[in-house]
Amino acid sequence: MGQPADSSSSQSDSLTVRDNRTGKTYTVPIKDNVVSATAFKAIVAPRKPQDREENDPEKGLRVSDKGFLNTAVIHSQITYIDGEAGVLRYRQVGYPIEQLALHSSHLETGYLLIYGALPSKAQLKLFESEVMHHSIVHADAENFFRSFRYDAHPMAMLTSAFAYLGSYYSEANPSLQGQNLFTKSDPASLANMDKQIYRLIGKATTLAAMAYRVRQGRDFVTPPSGLSYTGQFLYQMDHLGQEDYRPSPVLEKALDVLFLLHADHELNASATTVLQTGSSLVDPYSAIAAGCASLYGPLHGGANEAVIRMLISIGSPENVPAFLEAVKKREKVLSGFGHRVYKTSDPRSFIIRKTADEVFKVTGKDELLETAMALHDAAIKDDYFVSRRLAPNVDFWSGLIYRAMGFPYDFFPVLFAVPRVVGWLAHWRQMMLQEGGVKIWRPRQIYVGAAKRDYVPTEKREVVEGAKNSPIPVVHGGISKRTAMAEFKGKSKL
Ligand SMILES: CC(C)(COP(=O)(O)OP(=O)(O)OC[C@H]1O[C@@H](n2cnc3c(N)ncnc32)[C@H](O)[C@@H]1OP(=O)(O)O)[C@@H](O)C(=O)NCCC(=O)NCCS
Repeated sequence: MGQPADSSSSQSDSLTVRDNRTGKTYTVPIKDNVVSATAFKAIVAPRKPQDREENDPEKGLRVSDKGFLNTAVIHSQITYIDGEAGVLRYRQVGYPIEQLALHSSHLETGYLLIYGALPSKAQLKLFESEVMHHSIVHADAENFFRSFRYDAHPMAMLTSAFAYLGSYYSEANPSLQGQNLFTKSDPASLANMDKQIYRLIGKATTLAAMAYRVRQGRDFVTPPSGLSYTGQFLYQMDHLGQEDYRPSPVLEKALDVLFLLHADHELNASATTVLQTGSSLVDPYSAIAAGCASLYGPLHGGANEAVIRMLISIGSPENVPAFLEAVKKREKVLSGFGHRVYKTSDPRSFIIRKTADEVFKVTGKDELLETAMALHDAAIKDDYFVSRRLAPNVDFWSGLIYRAMGFPYDFFPVLFAVPRVVGWLAHWRQMMLQEGGVKIWRPRQIYVGAAKRDYVPTEKREVVEGAKNSPIPVVHGGISKRTAMAEFKGKSKL
């Protein structure tokens, strides 16, 4: 690296890069402590005979970042995380999550995330009533949910339901209405965008509750009026026709705090997926369905379910040391610990811990709590976790609360996805309205496959074998022993 030519701010806010292949020096500007990866494309070198054509240095230097460990892909005003300090703030580096959890509600926080400022009374009233007004789904949605197999995972249902929902709204589909439908920033376009936002937030609880009721073998209920966002969600899941039914205010409030904490988390895997999908200018329903699919994975939203299954497998506090030894030998993973961004503590985990106590007061303590505490206490003192800076994350405690509330384990990721719809939409809206329009997200790759080769006729081919390089015959399910033994056209087996 060379030294900056002088100390003036324009010169000093830059990077001097010397390409040792050519001896040339390049100046790359630094703005907001970021260098542009495309600036490195200007760095070219002559191709050497041993260079693969796919890695041609004459086409410019590429920047590699597997898993986006240090790549900023967007300018955002939505959420700020300082992973080193364990800080999470929503919007304009202003509102610490601890204050919002104490004073705000999920929908008010949703407003903040989407529109950028805390609302006035009238603005909040409008937003809440629009969201609630849009909670009812078309009657045909009942057939859609009934078409799943009896044991379908609720996340499979919810993911498909978001895409299904989009099929009702041709006016929200840029493929039908023109690709600049949401990027125009004119009043009609903004109003159209808001309508989809109300629909998606309003119907998220309804779709999730329908996925729940299908599994319970219950009829569906119409979303009630006059309840809070989480109140009507609980009602839709649990109401069985009782008169004047009202969900427990303690659980309603606890769920609201959990929703608020899960509302956004910067560019996590699912928000990135929403933006990646949305960058093709597809409709927001498809983009949200893609985000929902991403959240389903055990490294992301599936972790709260994995924590409970892990705690059940450990069984009791005395088995914790043996479990931790297995983790250290990499035979097991300590679910609910570790985070890509938080390296000291996850601020949400403290609020969740308090919320858990509120819930346990009315539900009774969860029998897994002791094991969870023992695991937590041992792990935070253990050098393996300390040296890798692995602290409990939001999922370590949230699963215990959901379990205490009586939700089935496979419904836990749904309870994460529903509130995250707010964050996904905030990011999607911000991208649609960003200056300079939307650029499709199309990363580069480093091709390491075979070089150009000619087609070889079957009889002259060198056979490639091995589990990773050729198809493996699989056991065919669905055929009972009796069918396997049956005769078919004179033959003894199918
Ligand atoms: C969240 C997570 C995916 C972050 O992954 P990441 O940023 O890529 O971190 P890495 O996988 O590089 O982890 C760094 C080191 O810690 C170890 N590690 C990370 N999380 C661990 C965990 N939960 N249990 C045991 N070891 C873990 C890794 O094996 C690695 O060790 P090494 O350096 O000896 O190879 C990861 O911590 C994880 O899988 N956690 C469990 C799942 C979970 O709770 N997810 C919810 C997140 S909110």
